[in-house]
Amino acid sequence: MNSIHPVNVGLLGIGTVGGGAYTVLARNAEEIARRAGRPIKVSIVADRDIKRARSLVGCSCQVTDDPFVVVGDPAVDVVVELIGGYTAARELVMRAIENGKHVVTANKALLALYGNEIFAAAQQKGVIVAFEAAVAGGVPIIKALREGLAANRIEWAAGIINGTTNFILSEMREKGLPFAEVLSEAQRLGYAEADPTFDIEGIDAAHKATLIAAIAFGIPVQFDKAHVEGITKLEAIDIRYAGQLGYRIKLLGIAKCRQDGVELRVHPALVPEKRLIANVEGAMNAVLVKGDAIGLTLYYGKGAGAEPTASAVIADLVDVTRAATIDPDNRVPHLAFQADQLRDLVILPIEEAETAFYLRLTVEDKPGVLADITRIMANEEISIDAMLQKEPEEDEGTADIIMLTHVCREKQANAAIGRIEALSSVRNSVTKIRLENLQ
Ligand code: HSE
Repeated sequence: MNSIHPVNVGLLGIGTVGGGAYTVLARNAEEIARRAGRPIKVSIVADRDIKRARSLVGCSCQVTDDPFVVVGDPAVDVVVELIGGYTAARELVMRAIENGKHVVTANKALLALYGNEIFAAAQQKGVIVAFEAAVAGGVPIIKALREGLAANRIEWAAGIINGTTNFILSEMREKGLPFAEVLSEAQRLGYAEADPTFDIEGIDAAHKATLIAAIAFGIPVQFDKAHVEGITKLEAIDIRYAGQLGYRIKLLGIAKCRQDGVELRVHPALVPEKRLIANVEGAMNAVLVKGDAIGLTLYYGKGAGAEPTASAVIADLVDVTRAATIDPDNRVPHLAFQADQLRDLVILPIEEAETAFYLRLTVEDKPGVLADITRIMANEEISIDAMLQKEPEEDEGTADIIMLTHVCREKQANAAIGRIEALSSVRNSVTKIRLENLQ
């Protein structure tokens, strides 16, 4: 096997994931070559920190601080893009494709925003752009959706696809602490980045949900149409009440295919605690997929970290190695469906989403208040599934009312909330959290 010409990899970025990929490729070289049919070897690395890069790779390959040298290197067969961001990464990936190189990337942001142009360019040039590491790190969800479930009409996918926020939510629930306190602790421990915006505001999860929706339903990537809400406004009290009602709150990325369009949304949601996915805690990821033939399937594992993400990067390298000599028209299509068979399904506005709700409000504790509220719900044709009344610790003479609704349109819930908030007996604005039964 070692006498066979190796596949030469040009690595853009040898930070956490790049370093992990380099290490695992070296450690499992023999096993990987037995699978791929040829050795896979890093032949050149580009990194801003050239000294660090050199110390990691020794004399085993060339090192440069100019990534354009890598994408222009005639000896490189596959470019692995691990620098992240949009601007330089987009230019480098497009240049690599122009130069006829296959690309493996973990860059969800890049693909969620510019995937359509990147895949079109790759299709035209007959090269592969592989992105298993872009969604749920080491969990092979792209492979499962694109290949393993190819017989199915995918009905929906819902996932915990951001480990940072899942870690924060787990800590908030277990320790009863507020968001800000847990975030600071997570940053101190290195679980959350110094600038955690992409994670805590749901943007990272929305990038991944956008890619899931595209390959699940055969639609173009449309990040700009996703509804995105993070966990920053989530209060410890709602996590507690949800627990008392038998639910856990998770940040979910949801892609649902309906007759009239696609729901693409990221937001915190109550999930029944008896579901396996509700018990995914800490920084772990999990994606539930419902196919019409198979029913429910669940994919679980580490969504970040050096070697878990490298696992996905290298799986892509093995795929690329095997498929490189196949006629491009016979390869697995980038978005699972043949490029000329993508559908133009509309992404529905959030007001049209169909889901159940958790509603919390504080009311004056006097006769007739509940009747007023339930009348409004009935008038908006929203059916109440469960109700809880609690006395708040501080505000005497008031009561917290928590309602769980059956599934309705979001705009119905919004109309009911508007009318409830207008009642003189209601003290504050209504807290609304979506609830997904995931069955
Ligand atoms: N920051 C992400 C997470 C991993 O917390 O899951 C990379 O997308």
